[in-house]
Amino acid sequence: MNIFEQQKNEFSERHIGINKEEKEAMLSAIGVSNLEELISKTIPDAIRIKTDLEVPAAISEFEYLSELKKVAAKNKVFKSYIGQGYYDTITPSVILRNVFENPGWYTQYTPYQAEISQGRLESLLNYQTLVSDLTALPIANASLLDEGTAAAEAMAMLFNHKNKDHDHITAPKFFIDEKIFAQTKDVLVTRAEPIGIELVFGDFKHVALNEDYFGAIVQYPDNDGAIRDYREFIAKAHAANVMVVMATDLLALTLLTPPGELGADVAIGSSQRLGVPMGFGGPHAAFFATKDEFKRTIPGRIIGVSIDAQGNRCLRMALQTREQHIRREKATSNICTAQALLSNMAAMYAIYHGAEGLTNIAKRISILAQTLSDELNELGFNNLNEYYFDTLKIGVHDAAAIIKLGALQEMNFHFIDEKHIGISLDETTSQNNIVDILHVFARSINIDTASAGFDADALLENIPSSSTRTSGFLLHPVFNTHHSENQMMRYIKFLENKDLSLNTSMISLGSCTMKLNAATELIPVSWPEFSRLHPFAPADQTQGYLEIITELENYLSKITGFAATSIQPNSGAQGEYAGLLTIRAYHTARGESHRNVVLIPISAHGTNPASAVMAGMKVVVTRCDDAGNIDVADLKAKAEEHKNDLAALMVTYPSTHGVFEESIIEICNTIHEHGGQVFMDGANMNAQVGLTSPGMIGADVCHLNLHKTFAIPHGGGGPGVGPICVASQLVPYLPGHVNITNKTSNIHAVSAAPYGSASILLISYAYIKMLGTNGIRSATEYAILNANYMKARLEKYYKILYTGKNGTAAHEFIVDLRPFKNTAGIEAEDVAKRLMDYGFHAPTLSFPVAGTLMIEPTESEDKAELDRFCDALIGIYNEIKAIEEGKEDKKDNVLKNAPHTQHVVCADEWTKSYSRTVAAFPLPYVKENKFWPSISRVNNTYGDRNLICTCEPTEAYA
Ligand SMILES: Cc1ncc(COP(=O)(O)O)c(C=O)c1O
Repeated sequence: MNIFEQQKNEFSERHIGINKEEKEAMLSAIGVSNLEELISKTIPDAIRIKTDLEVPAAISEFEYLSELKKVAAKNKVFKSYIGQGYYDTITPSVILRNVFENPGWYTQYTPYQAEISQGRLESLLNYQTLVSDLTALPIANASLLDEGTAAAEAMAMLFNHKNKDHDHITAPKFFIDEKIFAQTKDVLVTRAEPIGIELVFGDFKHVALNEDYFGAIVQYPDNDGAIRDYREFIAKAHAANVMVVMATDLLALTLLTPPGELGADVAIGSSQRLGVPMGFGGPHAAFFATKDEFKRTIPGRIIGVSIDAQGNRCLRMALQTREQHIRREKATSNICTAQALLSNMAAMYAIYHGAEGLTNIAKRISILAQTLSDELNELGFNNLNEYYFDTLKIGVHDAAAIIKLGALQEMNFHFIDEKHIGISLDETTSQNNIVDILHVFARSINIDTASAGFDADALLENIPSSSTRTSGFLLHPVFNTHHSENQMMRYIKFLENKDLSLNTSMISLGSCTMKLNAATELIPVSWPEFSRLHPFAPADQTQGYLEIITELENYLSKITGFAATSIQPNSGAQGEYAGLLTIRAYHTARGESHRNVVLIPISAHGTNPASAVMAGMKVVVTRCDDAGNIDVADLKAKAEEHKNDLAALMVTYPSTHGVFEESIIEICNTIHEHGGQVFMDGANMNAQVGLTSPGMIGADVCHLNLHKTFAIPHGGGGPGVGPICVASQLVPYLPGHVNITNKTSNIHAVSAAPYGSASILLISYAYIKMLGTNGIRSATEYAILNANYMKARLEKYYKILYTGKNGTAAHEFIVDLRPFKNTAGIEAEDVAKRLMDYGFHAPTLSFPVAGTLMIEPTESEDKAELDRFCDALIGIYNEIKAIEEGKEDKKDNVLKNAPHTQHVVCADEWTKSYSRTVAAFPLPYVKENKFWPSISRVNNTYGDRNLICTCEPTEAYA
């Protein structure tokens, strides 16, 4: 490579952590002479790609940013008054810089290891408190994917509540008021049909609810912006034993009577406008709050208060026994990755502004809306909303003409119909903006001037007294302390310091692929050309985005060996669901709608069966053999048994056991012979890219986790993107969207926004552009190299479960800790917690096999870091040996007492049987870079028995 080529490929060398000398040493430790030998021992030849992927050659980071600026310029940032669930907002710079753009926050993993996650757990608890306070409902989750899917989750929760026996559905109907957002309706339509819900659309004032209904949904304020009083409706619904969901707006609730006080059973919506940029549709955190009776069935993650081993208050993810990794097809929903980073931003926004600040923002918007309404009235334009918060519905002669005039002045309004225009104001709207809007309307009737008088003390006559909020909210000290920038910056840092992220050490979570989230990939996400676009802005203003999305979809199709891609799903699990819907629609179109059986190997991730049930399928579990491979005989027998109804197989490849199963082609053929389609779970694509592909192995559809393989950060539990890539026969069934009218699709939307979490697609796009065709293949090769190197070092100490036929692992491998239970009383959890004392996050614990750790180093780590991690596990092995040999006590030892906090180690009294140094500084490298877990081991059951999911009174912290 000459020095010019070298510059173009510089990103690859930075993304991949291993240099040439290290590579040679690692290959020799594994016992192979070159990388190709390792790869051919690992991936069956029959499924190897023999040519280069059709993606462009690499470009440098500098070149990429310069090119991207040109594409960004094709996006036009107009003032958007479109509303419909998306509003411009001001992200406080202190939050933008210290949370959104800070790897200490965005590279975190979901807080399963509570002892090194107290910062984000506290922030998520703040979010739950914010949602619970504003909605006046006692329990809220830590986020869902978007408003549309949150509405669908609410519908499903209430459906299951009322129809406990799915074989005898007694109340199949769900009422949808016609004035909810169009995209929410679209998602509800998608989600209702497969599980047997009948949707009834109409006007809430006229519907006669009866025992056939289990639930209803209304929007507050409605999609036109009108504030309507739902008290009577809710009372009538309850009298008929029908539960009510209110889709609502958190900012509006600072001024409006909250859903809980109106009697609603569930409140959902988006918290986007609390400081999270529109980003052409996402990512944003949806919220979900409900009554206490639903606390065990609420979808998504919930943060709860518990105690640690010292009896001190701490936080953890609560009620995990409801989730898919435990309950599989009986789980309450398939939500795994959600939108943690974005709920953290919204929580910080609320903390920074406090109740008074939020109320002032809401009042300012509402006063501006009232002023605009009055002044438009003066001009002869009527606002049809008698009562409203921020949105006017203006009667006009020719809506299209006014929208055109607006566009000339770089403003977007909402086209309701030929005679009506919607105008939604937001936090960024100024007095000048109001005058500009008036100018547009004046010009439409040939008046040249317009002006407005503003009264900062105006009474909000646009909000009726019956709907005016009287109750307090955000009274907890956390919302009343950090209002100066120093305080805010320090609070964010205080929390960040408690959490182990990728900027501390490697996070080798098998199946989760915690690879580098490069700064150059992330920087453009904050550029206004990408962050301030409304998802429903006209296409001529979003050409830059559309170009990138088309290109990215094309790359992903090439990489997976498929015909087309949809980037709409907002997480891996949503991708599974969307993929199964395409299969369902395909069978239905062929007159085979009875095909509803999905075969799922026992080793599959819990979201697979949960998604299958959501798609209306029946799950049949197939076995694995002793080597961890799919039991082909069992699979064939079950495919034969269900051949008349077989819809699909869901298969993860390489398997969740980290093996490229040789039988994969035979498995796919078997499914096809019996009329089924093959869905491949793409969580392990980081072992495939450039070397093999789902298309090549014979699958028909796969989902990808862009937040794994394609470098989007995990954000402490989201965001994520879960595109689906499909073979040609499934292309007609990719998800559609009410706002994409130029494409026809046979299925409705799976996400609220047409292009899902559009702004973070930039990250995966950059990843592919900067690595280029060679780089993305090398990344896979090095991911496999790193895993096999670690395996080679660790197999001298630990039993490694499952390898391929040549004894190699794929990109991850499983360390079996079960034997130590008998020999030393040590369990996998003890090892996971002890790793924290060594400065590491535990690998994936007890998935897919209980009592094991699954290690996935990724290609981005350097050899020294891999060695440090191996040294830590070897150190722990020696500690276990000492217990086995009776040199250390079985109960009072470094593993059982792990992790050791600073507080415990520095206490005046030390009664343990080992030294403080052994406890806290077990290896020399730890002394140089000590990361202190902030709590002792969390008590897992206490928190669930004493469920508290909002900030408690201050005394509780004492
Ligand atoms: C194998 C597998 N499938 C599916 C998922 C679900 O993906 P997501 O969390 O993005 O919904 C995961 C998540 O880790 C996974 O490991």
